[in-house]
Formats: sequence, structure tokens, C-alpha cells
Amino acid sequence: MSKELDVAIKAAREAGEIIKENFGKSQSVKLKENKSFLTETDVASETKIISIIEVSFPNHSIIAEESGLSEKNSGYSWFIDPIDGTTNFVTKVPLFAVSIALMKQDKLILGVIYNPILDELYSAEIEQEAKLNNEALKVSEKNSISEFMVGYARPSAKKEGFLKIFQKLELVTRTPKILGSMAIHLSYVASGRSDAAVILFPNSWDVAAGAFIVEEAGGKVTDFDGNPWSINSKNILASNGRIHEEILDILK
Ligand code: IPD
Ligand code: CA
Ligand code: CA
Repeated sequence: MSKELDVAIKAAREAGEIIKENFGKSQSVKLKENKSFLTETDVASETKIISIIEVSFPNHSIIAEESGLSEKNSGYSWFIDPIDGTTNFVTKVPLFAVSIALMKQDKLILGVIYNPILDELYSAEIEQEAKLNNEALKVSEKNSISEFMVGYARPSAKKEGFLKIFQKLELVTRTPKILGSMAIHLSYVASGRSDAAVILFPNSWDVAAGAFIVEEAGGKVTDFDGNPWSINSKNILASNGRIHEEILDILK
């Protein structure tokens, strides 16, 4: 395992401890401008992650949801979401995750997603086997749309296009899932718990780790036009790759 992945896992686990300690306890909740929630635990988790990364990689840039951009010119950039699924965290639903990814120049090289309540750690790095804890991670093998379980996510304040997309896919697929965390949705595609995820208006930190992990687990990730996914994509289809084009056609 690379030193970078080792540090990312340590950061995710230590932040996860903080989140777990605070889960279920009452705390002050602020509403951000984009209508998403912010708690002290988001900030504590992010502070922990950044402090661990900075000790080992002081020259790396950091793009973190709550504290923004710290730019350095090493060519390495970390994308950090300290809790993806804060609404679930606040409402005591145990589905949320720490999400950490590292990009070298413009290529992602590792991703870690950690759900501290279920103690599930998804990890992948370039040219290595993607894992869920110590088990190899693989997308599902389904190739019939009528069997597909599809996850959906969109920001609280951005609803444009969602109902149309949902209706088109919902009519031809088996089961919809709306779980409240883009990172969890992507990790579930990577592990075959879902067959696809449809994501609207993500931020880079919501999806960087998850999209990378899906690809490393054998899946496919594009925007709705079929272009390879990038951290600037405005929409994302992640799937097991078996009938990706068929789903893209339905989304058109
Ligand atoms: C949110 C989750 C959610 C999505 C929102 C995101 P946060 O992230 O990923 O699934 O619908 O758009 O903002 O605010 O909990 O980090
Ligand atoms: Ca967050
Ligand atoms: Ca998020």
C-alpha cells in the first residue's frame, strides 16, 4: 500500500471515530447558503483529516467542503468531504461517510470512503485491487435493465430535471434507492449493492473518491452525454458497465 493510501485510511478512520462519538447526540445545526446542514462534527472531522494529511504531505493542495481551497504547487490535490450525508447524520440515520480522494496532476490516484457506524471502509488506488475492508470489491454482473437497482442523489436546493430522470428510469428498472449520500451511493455501485447511481449537480468532494472506486471495482462512470467523468461534471452516471449505453439512451 502506498504511503498516500495509508495516510488517507488513517485520516478517514480517525475522523470516523469523532463522527461515531457524536452520532445520536444533540448538537447545534446550521443551515448553509445552499440549504445543506452543517454541524460541529463536520468541522471536527474535517479538521482531523486535514491535520493528518498535512503532517505527511505539507506541499499538497487541499479542497475541503467546509474550509475551501488551500493551494500549493506540488501537483497533488486532496478532495475531502468530512461527512457526506450530514442530513442523515443529523436525523440519526446511520448512512453517511467520510470521503477522501487524491489527484495527481489531473488524474485521480486513490479514493477512500468510510462509514464509521457500519465500520465499512472502501478503498482503491491506481493499479491495485479495490477493497471493502479486506475483501476485493467488484461491481454487480446484472445486464438486464429490469433487474437494475438504481440510486439517485441531488442537492437539496437543486431539483431541476430530477423528476424527469427519475420517472424515465423508474419505469424500466427494478428498485430505486435514495440514500442521502452521494459517496454511499457510489460505494454501493462499487460493491454491487446497487447496479447504477444517477447523480445531479455534485461537488468534487462528494464524488471524487466514489467515482474512482467504482471504476477501480470494474464499473463505468460518465456524464449523461457519455463523456468520461471528471471532477467538474454536472451530472454523473455510475454503473456496473454492462448496459451503460442503454441507460444513457434512456436519460437523453
Ligand atoms: C450531500 C449528500 C447528498 C446530496 C447532497 C450533498 P453533504 O452532501 O451527498 O446525497 O443529495 O447534494 O450535498 O452536504 O451531506 O456533504
Ligand atoms: Ca459534507
Ligand atoms: Ca457531500
